[in-house]
Amino acid sequence: MLINNINYRTVWMQDTSVYMINQQLLPFKFEIFQSKNYVETANAIKTMVVRGAPAIGASGAYGLAQGALAYEENNFDDFKRYVNDAYKVLNSARPTANDLSYALNFVKSKMFVNWSISNSKMRAFELAREYADWSVEVCRKIGEYGNKLIKNNQNILTHCNAGALACVDFGTALSPIRIAHYNRKKIFVYVDETRPRNQGAYLTAWELAQEKINHAIIADNAAGFFMKSKKIDLVVVGADRIAMNGDVANKIGTYEKAVVAKENNIPFYVAAPLSTFDINSKTGDYIPIEERSEEEILYISGIDENKKIKKVRIAPEESTAKNPAFDVTPAKYISGIITEKGVIRPVMEEIEKFVLSKYQNEE
Ligand code: MRU
Repeated sequence: MLINNINYRTVWMQDTSVYMINQQLLPFKFEIFQSKNYVETANAIKTMVVRGAPAIGASGAYGLAQGALAYEENNFDDFKRYVNDAYKVLNSARPTANDLSYALNFVKSKMFVNWSISNSKMRAFELAREYADWSVEVCRKIGEYGNKLIKNNQNILTHCNAGALACVDFGTALSPIRIAHYNRKKIFVYVDETRPRNQGAYLTAWELAQEKINHAIIADNAAGFFMKSKKIDLVVVGADRIAMNGDVANKIGTYEKAVVAKENNIPFYVAAPLSTFDINSKTGDYIPIEERSEEEILYISGIDENKKIKKVRIAPEESTAKNPAFDVTPAKYISGIITEKGVIRPVMEEIEKFVLSKYQNEE
């Protein structure tokens, strides 16, 4: 993505450090965060310096390479155990995004070569880079397929941030929007603010502004109003994990947007790579939902008149809060899932055909 005329990825690795655009600070400050080891990378995922399913996946892959590169002894079995420990720390950083374990498994399953520690270290680094490059290409393809669903003069609603910042580049839900814009389609994007962490207001709006794509931020509670008053032609969101029956876990609030879209006959699309499908989740009931700190509800951050980022409390001192980070949208509300292989209907037979053939091709 182009930021101040420089092309950035959300996450990359150089020598033994992983670099990330620091998403805790946007849109107020653009800063690169340097993580020097796999523990710092796991922590950056946990604290959402980097967030969004594909970006978490690529960060995990680089983190595992960091773990391998840090091993200093000379015993191959011990090296494997060391890498396995790093795998566990990284894999437990956040529970809902399937791409994290998918990316970690991609690196771990192929990195051990010829009982050679130095070759395996090198291979881990190459695999992590390969994974990130592959992820960029997948998101570009999602954009190409999704663009075909967008007509000139359409108004599109999106929830949370499923843009380049949530991926290595391009985005999932924002990739079709980007490509429609590059194709000179006239579009307007309604951006749900996405409380509690405001990924819509902070990140999606920032990305759209960088690309000069027309948009307006709306309060989360306003989406129904705009849908009912025929201001929205299409909804596109991302996904953190998709069950084999087509139920989709995405940022909290997605479910109610899908229900209201159906009520108003508005197509509701999910954009996600095939790596987001979880072959172990038969339905959405099996998807682990992350519970985050109540602080995210009780406080909000912004910038003051001296351009200082400030966090302020917005609820009574006595109040507590509950903060599930994701919800599950049942497949019946979803018009289609835009993947790198085309648009899939959210039904078991079709999902199995695409997802299982992906795994077979990788063997
Ligand atoms: O908690 P976050 O910010 O990691 O949640 C992100 C989302 O819910 C995105 O919509 C999802 O990861 C898809 S990202 C391309």
